[in-house]
Amino acid sequence: MKTLRNMAVWLDERLHLTALWASSAGHEVPATSGSWWYVFGSATLLCFIIQVITGACLAFVYIPSTSEAYTSLQYLNHVQFWGWYLRAIHYWGSNCMVAFMTCHMIQVFLFGAYKYPRELTWISGLFLLLCTLGMAFTGQVMRWDQDAYWGLSIGASIMGRIPLIGGQLVHLLLAGPIIAGETLSRFFTLHVFIIPGLIIAIIVMHLRLVLAKGINEYPRPGYQVHRATYDADYADIIRKEGVPFVPKAVDKDLIFSAFVIVLILVLALVFGPKGPKGIPDPALVDTNPRPDFYFLSIFAALALLPDWMEMLVMFIAPAIGLLYLLALPFISNTGEKSARRRPVAVLSVILIVLVIVTLAWYGETSPWSPDMVAWSGAAVPVKFLKGRTPLQMHGATLLQNKQCRNCHSLGGEGGERGPSLDAVATRLTADQMVRQIIQGGGNMPAYGKKVTPPEVDAMVSFMTTLRPESTPPSRDSAPPMNKLPRDFAVVLPPAEQADAKK
Ligand code: HEC
Repeated sequence: MKTLRNMAVWLDERLHLTALWASSAGHEVPATSGSWWYVFGSATLLCFIIQVITGACLAFVYIPSTSEAYTSLQYLNHVQFWGWYLRAIHYWGSNCMVAFMTCHMIQVFLFGAYKYPRELTWISGLFLLLCTLGMAFTGQVMRWDQDAYWGLSIGASIMGRIPLIGGQLVHLLLAGPIIAGETLSRFFTLHVFIIPGLIIAIIVMHLRLVLAKGINEYPRPGYQVHRATYDADYADIIRKEGVPFVPKAVDKDLIFSAFVIVLILVLALVFGPKGPKGIPDPALVDTNPRPDFYFLSIFAALALLPDWMEMLVMFIAPAIGLLYLLALPFISNTGEKSARRRPVAVLSVILIVLVIVTLAWYGETSPWSPDMVAWSGAAVPVKFLKGRTPLQMHGATLLQNKQCRNCHSLGGEGGERGPSLDAVATRLTADQMVRQIIQGGGNMPAYGKKVTPPEVDAMVSFMTTLRPESTPPSRDSAPPMNKLPRDFAVVLPPAEQADAKK
């Protein structure tokens, strides 16, 4: 016993452990901060620790190369003992981390904890938020599946529009002009070394600030923060009703942490890991790419809003939002902290949450995003089929089966990413339609490898009938239809062949 004690004393003399304990775990906090509202910060930290541990385990198996990444995830899912569960915990851990971080931020905002003297705590928290979103985005890419591919292309095209330096930024992001093997290496490095390193460093600073400036007291309605008096007031609170963080204020954190662990384990068990969903292939539109939930609202906003607002949604709004949040502790540095006396703050939180949730809901459910059942299930309206040849009917079926209507509407029903096809024959000649289907372009994927020449033939034949009754189909002034190469020839019914010859 004596030797043990001597050893402990020896260690303490060198490492100053008791002093460290007293100044951290043992530091005094306002008794009012031992409230359920204060548990989200520690929950976020816990999620991060779970992510580091499960991430390190995943890294033992994961191979960051375009040819092996997908296979190594399949291996984890299906071969490795409990590998799928590890992936599931990492995935649900990340979702929970974003969710609890959001709760933490809302709580801190509503409790006025960003005000004097905790400005830097708030700002370091904002950087933690950005880093966490960076982890979420780079993590999505690790799956190297359809979602990853499309997520990246959306991310890259967003960046590409930044004035002046957009092109270079995309090059930097993708490690080259296109999404390729280098891209994956780059994202892997970001996901496992750079961003986690940054997060750890900023967490240290964040906690240091919490210790140095004290945990925010539970706001009392009517109490005003004044720069001249606040520090003395806070010291007063600590003197009167201060309690050591451990064990007096930590109990609710611990209970909530246990809940978080159970929550993640259960979510992972019930819903399993995410993906990988299909090997990435830019021409494959038979996919249902969707970002993870925290990016759904941006995805939805981009798809729903008119084109001219894209710049606004992509840069101007996020930039203004971020600048505002950074400036917030200086804009409203003093004054009332209690949410009961800050109706504008409460209303803005409700408004922002409503907008984000609604958009995310649209992102998850609405048909313009390639939700395959929605439009491909709807048959081509009868009025487009009356009096058509068998080939044209076949074309109509193909149009439905190839899910063209996810992007193109017919008779007012269908997606809106491409132009409506109702009167396409008045705009395009048959050759132009063939070219459009095979080569794609202007945001339409190329179908060259996904359809056979007879199928193109049938679809184009059907599309040449998509025009008002009295209008002839568009045609070239140059070579007549019957001089086209045989395998792309468009068979028109006799009446229209006469039309085309006129
Ligand atoms: C991912 C969405 C998407 C899918 C799926 C899609 N298209 Fe398109 N399509 C577009 C877009 C966007 C344009 C506009 C291209 C442009 O502006 O250059 C377009 C243009 C067209 C045009 C020219 C229309 C015009 O008036 O200029 C035709 C014809 C066409 N698509 C046919 C098809 C067919 C047939 C299919 C199914 C095999 C299909 N599309 C599938 C997005 C899509």
